[in-house]
Amino acid sequence: MKKTILAVSLLALLASCGSGDGKKTDDKKEPQTGTETKPADDLSSNPVYQKGLAVVSESKNLCLTCHKIEDKLQGPAYREVANKYENTDENVKKLAEKVKKGGSGVWGDIPMPPNAAISPEDAEAAVRYILLLKSK
Ligand code: HEC
Repeated sequence: MKKTILAVSLLALLASCGSGDGKKTDDKKEPQTGTETKPADDLSSNPVYQKGLAVVSESKNLCLTCHKIEDKLQGPAYREVANKYENTDENVKKLAEKVKKGGSGVWGDIPMPPNAAISPEDAEAAVRYILLLKSK
């Protein structure tokens, strides 16, 4: 007799736990269902993205000889840079200055040489584009 009571109450306990957890995960998942838009698709129509991508891709600026979006080359992956910094005017200014003057010590021992030929506007446009690439 005792055993049955124990078994029943255990079952009830298990059931209540289970349903509680189930509800929570369901709630979390809901916003993700439905129409799925890839972040890349959204970005490609953004003028800030387009302008900065054009600057970064211009071969005379050499950015892409040292940087890739997803992977580290000599320089950090742009996605990593985006994840590190908040997209604020202050950070854009600071990073644009570094792009122009070069520098080292943030991502390792390899320095970024000065990109002296780039205009301040282009350097800023490049950084604004990079900071859009956040993955989280
Ligand atoms: C010769 C290789 C090279 C070129 C060319 C280059 N970079 Fe870099 N870049 C690096 C390295 C190395 C670092 C890491 C520096 C550090 O650790 O502080 C870096 C860092 C950066 C950072 C992050 C700075 C920080 O303090 O976190 C940004 C943004 C950046 N580069 C953008 C650019 C842009 C835009 C261009 C083109 C105009 C460019 N880079 C061209 C090698 C390069």
